[in-house]
This record gives sequence, structure tokens and C-alpha cells, in this order.
Amino acid sequence: MTVQLPFDHDHPLDVAPLLRQLQRDGVVHRVRTAVGDQAWLVTGYAEVRLLLADERLGRSHPDPARAARLGESALFGGPMGNYDTEQADNARLRSLLQPLFSPRRMRALRPRVDELTAGLLTDLAGHGPPADLHQMLALPLPIQVICELLGVPYADRDQFRGWSEAVGDVRDRARSEQGLGELFGYGRQLVARKREQPGDDVISRLCADDLGDDEIAMLSMGLLFAGHETTVAAIGMGALCLLANPGQQQALVDDPGQITSAVEEILRAPGRGGGGIPRYARTDLQIGEVTVRAGELVLLELRAANHDPAVFPSPDRFDVTRPGPAHASFGHGAHYCLGAPLARIELQAVFGQLLARFPKMRLAVPVEQLRVRSGALTGGLTELPVQW
Ligand code: HEM
Repeated sequence: MTVQLPFDHDHPLDVAPLLRQLQRDGVVHRVRTAVGDQAWLVTGYAEVRLLLADERLGRSHPDPARAARLGESALFGGPMGNYDTEQADNARLRSLLQPLFSPRRMRALRPRVDELTAGLLTDLAGHGPPADLHQMLALPLPIQVICELLGVPYADRDQFRGWSEAVGDVRDRARSEQGLGELFGYGRQLVARKREQPGDDVISRLCADDLGDDEIAMLSMGLLFAGHETTVAAIGMGALCLLANPGQQQALVDDPGQITSAVEEILRAPGRGGGGIPRYARTDLQIGEVTVRAGELVLLELRAANHDPAVFPSPDRFDVTRPGPAHASFGHGAHYCLGAPLARIELQAVFGQLLARFPKMRLAVPVEQLRVRSGALTGGLTELPVQW
């Protein structure tokens, strides 16, 4: 039987029952994507990690117009990049960006991230309960951080936020493509400005390399999108995990030294959002019992990998002291998230300070009432009403 995506499910944190069922049945499953195309869904932790690092799978397709699609988004909805040069192109992109996002550089940012977080929490205290933690913390922090890092004016946030949201629309390709076009045009303007007046920021440093304006605009806007959409979702879902599990919240209040493992659990635990990383088989290959044919779409289900009971005992339990192994939320292999060190710094600042200043914070509505953005690439909450 072919399973239809997306999984029909309302609870904002739990893995969909059907996905859980599939995982119990095996590691590879025939599915139909939201746009009606055939794909394979991989749900085992070991297989997902192996395949993320397997060069027989890629993001591009030799015949993009005929390739199966995951959704309508212009990003990750279908094939991306040039089939013949994909690996070399990615290696070049990473060698350009990696030095700008090295753990050492990111650690130097920590005091500023702490300061920005403290400022937002002061505003939250001034606002008083009840408040929307999504609007007052999860959304502004990653945007402030990525703006400072890239050298993008924070005053432009409503504009580029709107375009980013459009880009991530998995249901409306015209809207997604229009958003991408707007974002790119905006990137071009920024590059022109940085060429005239360089600053101490990532876009100015890329301008100093031997790159064309279009390429810098594309890279910068890719970073602007990747650097905030995902982190906004992770802060919201992480706060929800803590507030929905008051015993774990209290454990972290009592022992703030657990923040590092708590953040890893916050990245692992939510069973909603993010989802399947799309790849196309570059050759016929065997996954478990299944032969995948060259050109077919394979979805590597990160949420299922993160809830594989063979690797994470009682995977649905949220446990801030859970020891390794590493979750799959930042991917693995050639495309491993370049922003992982930055995302970790942001999450550690947020949850360290939030619980220190608001140890008694609680949800203002039942968990079941909260909504996850189902039509968006990165998932995440639309609001998170809290009391304290
Ligand atoms: C909690 C927050 C984040 C999560 C969960 C996340 C997740 C991911 C995942 C799963 C991938 C791999 C995609 C694939 O294999 O196709 C990825 C790639 C990437 N991420 Fe993140 N990310 C986060 C934050 C960030 C931030 C803050 C930045 C930028 C500053 C960033 C920049 C990137 C870039 C540039 C790539 C592409 C790397 C490549 O294709 O080689 N991410 N991210």
C-alpha cells in the first residue's frame, strides 16, 4: 500500500501515529508526496545517516522537469543544482562559507547573542503575562543574529521575512518562486551597497572573494533563509517541549549545567516540523529490502530517525539529561548544517536565560490547541502563549 504524505496529525509535538507505524514495519516505505509523486521514505536512524553521507544520492536530477517532487516550494520542493557538477559545486560553496561559520568564529559571537537574548527577555518582562513567546523571542532573536552576522539591516525584517515565508511555502509554487525572486533582488541591492561601503560582516567578506554579484546575492540570501527559518522553529518547539514537561523544566532550573545536553534533546525531541530531506538516486541502489532505481526520489525522515527506538530508548520521552548518540536534526555528511555551531549558541543562550529569569513560566493554553505550520518547509509554531 502506498502511503499519502503529509501525515495527517494534529498534536504539535508527537510523531504522527502512521509514521510510527511505518517505522515499526521496516526502514523503507513507498509513499506518495503531497503533490502526488512517488517516493521512498526512509525511517531508520542508521539508514538515514548512511544515506545522507552516500554519494549515490544527490539533490540534482538529470531530467529536472520529469523528476518526482516533494512539494511546490522552489527550495527543496524538487531537484536543485546541476546534475553534472553538483558535488564540485557543493564542495566549493562549503569551502567559501565554512571559514565564515567556523566554531571559533561562532564562539566569539556568543557574548553578543547573550546580550541580544537578554534584551528580548527584558522586553518580555516589561510586557508582562500573558505573552506570545513566538513573537517576542523565537522570531526576533534568530533574525537579529543573522542580520548582524550577514550585515543585513534589521529594519528590513518585515520585507525579507515575508519573502522567506513565501519561499518556504510547500503548497504554492508561484508564491514560492516569487519570494525567491524578491529575496534575490534584495540580495543584489545589498551586494551593491557592500561593494561601495564594506563592513565587518559576511556579505562584505564574500565581496572580497573573487565572486560575481549574482553568486554572492544567492549565497547571502540562502544564508538569510537557512539562518533564521530553522532556528525560529527550533526555539518555539524547544520552548514547547520544556513547558509541556514541567518536571524536565524544573530539572533544568535546578541544574543549569545541563544546558548543553538539554539543547541537544530540544533539537531531537519534537516529532513535528522539518521532516524528510529529499534526495535523488544517481544510480540503482539497494536500501534494506528495496531496490531504488536511478532518478527516484528518496526522503530521509529526520524526525523518524530521531525517534528510532533502537537508538533512542523511549524516544517519545523528553529527557534533558539524555546521553548521545547525536540526533540527526542537522543532517550528516556532505551537506551537514553549516550553521549548527551558531544554532547551538542561540539555543543555549535562549534556554539558559529564559529559565533563569522565568523559572515558573508555563503554557497559557493546552498543548493540543497549538498549531504547527503544516504548509511550511521548516514547520514551527505560529504562536506560543505563555504565563508566569
Ligand atoms: C536549529 C536550527 C537549524 C537546523 C535544525 C538546521 C538544519 C539543517 C539541515 C538538516 C541541513 C542539511 C540539509 C541537507 O542535507 O540537504 C542544513 C544545511 C544547512 N544549514 Fe542549517 N539548520 C539550522 C540552522 C542554521 C543556521 C543558523 C544557518 C546559517 C547561518 C544554517 C545554514 C545552513 C546551510 C548553509 C546549509 C547547507 C549546507 C550544504 O548544503 O552543504 N543552518 N541545516
